[in-house]
Amino acid sequence: MNFLITGAGRGIGLELTQFALEAGHNVYAIVRNPENARTLNTVKSDHAEKLIIFKGDVSSETDLQAINDELGDTPIDVVINNAGVMLDGDEDFSKLTQEQLIDTFKVNTFAPILVTQVFLPQLKKSTNAKVINITSRMGSISDNSSGGHYAYRMSKAALNMFSKSFAIDFPQVITLTLHPGWVKTEMGGAQAPLLPRESARGLFKVITEADTTKSGHFLDYQGKEIGW
Ligand SMILES: NC(=O)c1ccc[n+]([C@@H]2O[C@H](COP(=O)([O-])OP(=O)(O)OC[C@H]3O[C@@H](n4cnc5c(N)ncnc54)[C@H](OP(=O)(O)O)[C@@H]3O)[C@@H](O)[C@H]2O)c1
Repeated sequence: MNFLITGAGRGIGLELTQFALEAGHNVYAIVRNPENARTLNTVKSDHAEKLIIFKGDVSSETDLQAINDELGDTPIDVVINNAGVMLDGDEDFSKLTQEQLIDTFKVNTFAPILVTQVFLPQLKKSTNAKVINITSRMGSISDNSSGGHYAYRMSKAALNMFSKSFAIDFPQVITLTLHPGWVKTEMGGAQAPLLPRESARGLFKVITEADTTKSGHFLDYQGKEIGW
C-alpha cells in the first residue's frame, strides 16, 4: 500500500513511517525541513526505494500542489494527517492571542482539510482508501474537565467535526479520528507515559485493521471509543 504521512520527521509521525516501511509499504513522507530530520534520513538509507521524502509545509497549498504534481497518477491508499502544533498552554485566558489561535488552526485544522482535498484524486485511485486524522482527546468536548489550552482544544474539536463530515460524505473512504495517547514527544513532554513507538504500534494496528464499520469513529491508539 502507499501511505502519505505528514509531520514524518519526528515524534509519532516518524514512528508511523517506520511501522509502515517495516510492514513493506511505500511511504510518501511530508516534512518541513528534511535536512534536519536526521533519523528519517537514516531510515531512508535502509528503505531507499520505499521511502520518498517531500519537503513541504502542510499549511502551504503551493507546497502540497507541487507534491501532488510529482505524485501524478500514483494511487494513495492511506493519508495520515499527523502534523500538529500546540502553541498555547495552561496560561491565563487573558494571555491567549489571535495569532496563537490562527497559527494553531492553520496547522491542526485547515491543513488536514487541505491535504485531504489536494490528494483526493490519488485517494480515489485506491480500492481501499483511508484518511486518518490524528487528533487529541483534548479536542473532546464531553471529556473536557480541566479547561485551558483554548487554541489547541478548539483546533482539534474542529478537526474532529471535519473528520466526521468527511466520513459521511465519502463512505467509500474509511475515515478515522485517532487519539495517540499522551506520548513522550516534543509536544507531549518528558512526563508522558507512552513512548512514541508504543503509541504508533497501536495506531498502526487500528489503521490497518479498520474497516467501514469504524469509519467516522473517534478512537484511541488501542481502538477504544472516545466520546465527542
Ligand atoms: N504527544 C502527545 O502526547 C499527543 C497527544 C495527543 C495528540 N497528539 C497529536 O499527535 C500528532 C503528532 O504529535 P507529536 O507528539 O509527534 O508532536 P511533535 O513531536 O511536536 O511533532 C510534530 C510534527 O508536526 C510537524 N509539523 C508541525 N507544523 C508543521 C507544518 N506547518 N508543516 C509540516 N509539518 C509540521 C513537525 O515538523 P517540524 O519538525 O518541522 O517542526 C513534527 O514533525 C499531532 O497532531 C498532535 O496534536 C500528540
